[in-house]
Amino acid sequence: MTRPDRIVPIGPGGNRARFPRALTGLLALLASLSAPVAAQEDPTPPSVGTPPRVIDRMLSLAKLRSTDSLIDLGSGDGRIVLEAARRGAHAQGIEVRADLVAASRREAERLGLTQRTEFRQADIFAVDLSAASVLTLYLSPEFNERLMPRILATMRPGARVVSHDFPLGTWRPDAIERLDVPEKNYGRGGESVVMLWIVPATAAGRWRASIGDGSLKQEFVFSIAQQFQAIEGALLSDHGYRRFARAALHADNISMTLDGAPSPYREGSVTARIEGDRMTGIFRFRATEAVGAVFRAQRIDTRPDLFE
Ligand SMILES: C[S@@+](CC[C@H](N)C(=O)[O-])C[C@H]1O[C@@H](n2cnc3c(N)ncnc32)[C@H](O)[C@@H]1O
Repeated sequence: MTRPDRIVPIGPGGNRARFPRALTGLLALLASLSAPVAAQEDPTPPSVGTPPRVIDRMLSLAKLRSTDSLIDLGSGDGRIVLEAARRGAHAQGIEVRADLVAASRREAERLGLTQRTEFRQADIFAVDLSAASVLTLYLSPEFNERLMPRILATMRPGARVVSHDFPLGTWRPDAIERLDVPEKNYGRGGESVVMLWIVPATAAGRWRASIGDGSLKQEFVFSIAQQFQAIEGALLSDHGYRRFARAALHADNISMTLDGAPSPYREGSVTARIEGDRMTGIFRFRATEAVGAVFRAQRIDTRPDLFE
């Protein structure tokens, strides 16, 4: 299966109009994070480490579990990888400097963590990210922006990406936390910002859907426009597209409020899981919230020829 583009532009105002007012302050914070740090003209990240209390917040925000497989891109002295392994996860560090890779391996040995850690001397832009369920970054705005398309194209829906201090281009974080870090005398001196992104499934495109089975089966077509985790949907009827009152995407879980589906379903909501070019889930009637019928959809076009 060829993977469709994850990022499809949403019409003017469509995405932004949904941001709650409370997010405005956080978005201003994000804008400030994108501004280059005056003293750092070269975008190559220097070898400075993330303070332990910030690592703790990063791993907590990612909800790291022992079943996770973490990659730290630009792993420096290996501190994030070692802490993730100490918490039971399998963790891999990718670092360009041979001396830091060697020091990380020595530290893993000293701590008895060699079974769950791996340190590789490699370029972060040449690494396969598809097996990672958690990705950690403390790089630079420029490096993060370059990495973003590959994260979206290759990481599994539901994978968590956590960055210390730097945003991921224009991809809005799912969570942001600011911490006082008095001992930090570099970058954002005295404070750190930690951001989390959940990799969304690709929902964009045109879908042929059915609700119900047998004689109660009804078919229709709907379209989804997507910008990262923000989506909008519309149902195609004889009178053109009719926008969904609500559509939301979290990892590979999609929910949509339908209005104008074929009778007897007409008004209700769908919750479904996206797997490649298929969705499967359930339809609930709006009036009763009772489970109405099985919902299935198949992607028939990945192009954003939506709402025309
Ligand atoms: C700011 S440090 C972060 C270290 C560690 N991740 C932490 O948070 O404590 C960034 C690291 O990225 C490494 N680095 C820079 N460019 C790289 C590249 N292209 N490939 C791999 N590592 C790189 C640097 O050598 C440095 O050790």
